[in-house]
Amino acid sequence: MDKNIQIAVVGSGYVGLVAAVCFAEMGHTVICVDNDDRKVAALQGGDTLIHENHLPELLERYRNTKIRFMSDLGEATRECEAIFIAVGTPQSETGDADLSYVEAVACEIARSINGYKVIVEKSTVPVYTNEWVRRAIERNGVDRNLFDVVSNPEFLREGTAVADFLHPDRIVVGADSDKAAALLQEIYAPLTSGEYYKLPNAIEGPCGPTEPPPLLLTSTKSAEIIKHASNAFLALKISFINAVSNLCEATDANVEQVALGMGLDSRIGPKFLRPGIGYGGSCFPKDVAAFRSVAEQMGIDFNLLSEVEKINVQQKKRFLAKVRSALWTLRTKRIGVLGLAFKGETDDIRESPAIDLVEMLLGEGCSVTAFDPAAMKRTQDVLPATSHLKYVNSAYEAAQDSDALLILTDWPEFASLDLDRLNKIMRYPIIIDGRNLYDPHVVAQHGFTYLSIGRPASN
Ligand code: UGA
Repeated sequence: MDKNIQIAVVGSGYVGLVAAVCFAEMGHTVICVDNDDRKVAALQGGDTLIHENHLPELLERYRNTKIRFMSDLGEATRECEAIFIAVGTPQSETGDADLSYVEAVACEIARSINGYKVIVEKSTVPVYTNEWVRRAIERNGVDRNLFDVVSNPEFLREGTAVADFLHPDRIVVGADSDKAAALLQEIYAPLTSGEYYKLPNAIEGPCGPTEPPPLLLTSTKSAEIIKHASNAFLALKISFINAVSNLCEATDANVEQVALGMGLDSRIGPKFLRPGIGYGGSCFPKDVAAFRSVAEQMGIDFNLLSEVEKINVQQKKRFLAKVRSALWTLRTKRIGVLGLAFKGETDDIRESPAIDLVEMLLGEGCSVTAFDPAAMKRTQDVLPATSHLKYVNSAYEAAQDSDALLILTDWPEFASLDLDRLNKIMRYPIIIDGRNLYDPHVVAQHGFTYLSIGRPASN
């Protein structure tokens, strides 16, 4: 991979850090900038700060060679040709994305521009952000010919972020200038040419070998909308199957069979049709709200998205009702909880439906004993242990003497528990599975009452 481009990535969260190590893996030289000095020091010392596959090995490989970490955005701007903005865009009280960090970064970049630069929005941002970034830079006295602003949204998932970055389904580049588009094409050439995938030590794709991805050139506004529309559509798919699962419960049908039958239609596809306790994480809830808010501001009625959100909230309440239906009253009941992260294989608890459910159970007067393979520390920071909330070190300890065991996160290890052992240590053999990890007949054969999502109950 011959073309080495000097790239700055601003923000060392999930998107920024993953982008930074992956650009290095693609042969570029990267400066990763963060205004938090402690984070910079930790990264310089080789600590990735987040739980993510392949991140430690890539950081170790390129730290001090192809990647440097610093807090000086001015220096990074002067040294690099492309500057990727990957800072947070949290949800404000109105549901809009709060873009103050993006604006602050744009202004700081403006103060250090010393030649032609391409400034790239990598964070998820609402349509028109590109124009605001351009205006902010111009207002700070920078000549319009000295820079372009491009939108290059990222579609990586937590847990498989590195593999997703290097093996994307598509690369979207929203650019209103040929010069900027050409630079982004060069940056991604190792992937689009397929050259990267031929390397003997290339990181494998999340689903095995990969075809080179297409690079889709669009207008900046289209690229901004592609990201929001994609996340909103995936959230919609989840709420849709959750609503179908409720209908299945009411009619004694089986949502797994329904999802399989729907997903075999190539126009629908099998992915994101897993019913559960609702979507969570740092992206879907925030992005659905932000997209709805953008539509409202444009005078567009996008009530469909409000329904998506409503179903997502109801799904947690329905799960609580299911617990009640199995245990009658909840006050003083001992509940074992498996899973706190918003999905399996991550330690992220942001907007986790599992945490919401733990809070609801505590609110109902239950005693909760919880275990998660990776998210315990983060959970304890926001929900410290009390006389009613205990954190333990294994699934079996969580189940010990419980009136019911709830599965709230789809960690693979929760799908292969020793059911006979569980049956012996629980006060009552009741499993309520919010992620459909077990075959109801198998669990019933081990003597359990088993409730799951959208499937006939077994006992
Ligand atoms: C999501 C998108 O999948 C990425 O493409 C996107 O880049 C990212 O947001 C982002 O905007 O940064 P992520 O939040 O890591 O990625 O998680 P997902 O794997 O999409 O799961 C989101 C939530 O949906 C989880 O709570 C998961 O349990 C739930 N889910 C997912 C279901 O309930 N059912 C499904 O079939 C799939």
